[in-house]
Amino acid sequence: MLVDTYGRVATDLRVSLTDRCNLRCTYCMPEEGLQWLAKPDLLTDDEIVRLVRVAVTLLGITEVRFTGGEPLLRPGLTGIVQRCAALEPRPRLSLTTNGIGLKRTAAALAAAGLDRVNVSLDTLRPDVFKTLTRRDRHADVVDGLQAARTAGLTPVKINTVLMAGLNDDEAPELLAWAVENAYELRFIEQMPLDAQHGWKREGMITAGDVLESLRTRFTLTPEGDDQRGSAPAERWTVDGGPHQVGVIASVTRPFCHACDRTRLTADGQVRNCLFAREETDLRAALRSTAPDEEIARIWRLAMWGKKAGSGLDDPSFLQPDRPMSAIGG
Ligand code: 5AD
Ligand code: SF4
Repeated sequence: MLVDTYGRVATDLRVSLTDRCNLRCTYCMPEEGLQWLAKPDLLTDDEIVRLVRVAVTLLGITEVRFTGGEPLLRPGLTGIVQRCAALEPRPRLSLTTNGIGLKRTAAALAAAGLDRVNVSLDTLRPDVFKTLTRRDRHADVVDGLQAARTAGLTPVKINTVLMAGLNDDEAPELLAWAVENAYELRFIEQMPLDAQHGWKREGMITAGDVLESLRTRFTLTPEGDDQRGSAPAERWTVDGGPHQVGVIASVTRPFCHACDRTRLTADGQVRNCLFAREETDLRAALRSTAPDEEIARIWRLAMWGKKAGSGLDDPSFLQPDRPMSAIGG
């Protein structure tokens, strides 16, 4: 098991497959992109599958989510999914993607054993999409979402970040559209994880703002806390159900006390928190002759030291050195 000193147990593994991306979301990276990891530093497909196997067979991981950057840019993705789906015990497998390329790949990914996808989409307006992501690809994302639903990668979830003056007026419209298309919408508060360090608490659209805006058009009934478990999203039933909407108040109501996550970067570093300032190298062990049990030991040690919370509210808070795109969402 992956336990920490606060008694939390990590069962959910996020694996970043690449730090590269084909969008340039303003809350994530600068227009020119970032200094990408060099190919030899990236874990190979075999190394990724081995680490997932160690996590599933020796460390109690039951849920594996592939992230990026943009994981659909990883050439070996389908093979990685297929090999992870063949593990015993079989983990649940999901993917967090910007949706570009999903139209082409959704059916193959479902056939390989992928269970679900989360697609990032912040707006229904192509021009706003272009401003927000600096790329004119809105239609590709909408097509990708539809392909995911058709392929049975359900429930298809949509992650939305609202930004003041850009798309903060769209919450009700987005929810109406999600309900109509049977997508599960979740709003995420913008976090200080952008490469440019441009995040400011003032002016941030909070979970409270989102709910107030949604309530102008919908009746929202809170789901009981007993149903929430370790899910970071608080959920509301929309207009009597069955549809629900989620809000992840990562900044204003952090859910660190119930966190069940461990993270692996594309270059093989364990992170025990999105906001951690330290990482633990597994790649060196992988590339030596270390047996699985030794890798599991290093991983357990890395998780044991997990801090109580993100530290976002401390005056001394410092952003992690790596941006979200290199950590994995
Ligand atoms: N704050 C909140 N969410 C973010 N994402 C990327 N950067 C940030 C940020 N700074 C979102 C993406 C994606 C998910 C993995 O995280 O939009 O949906
Ligand atoms: Fe790419 Fe996701 Fe970052 Fe947008 S938020 S640039 S889609 S990694």
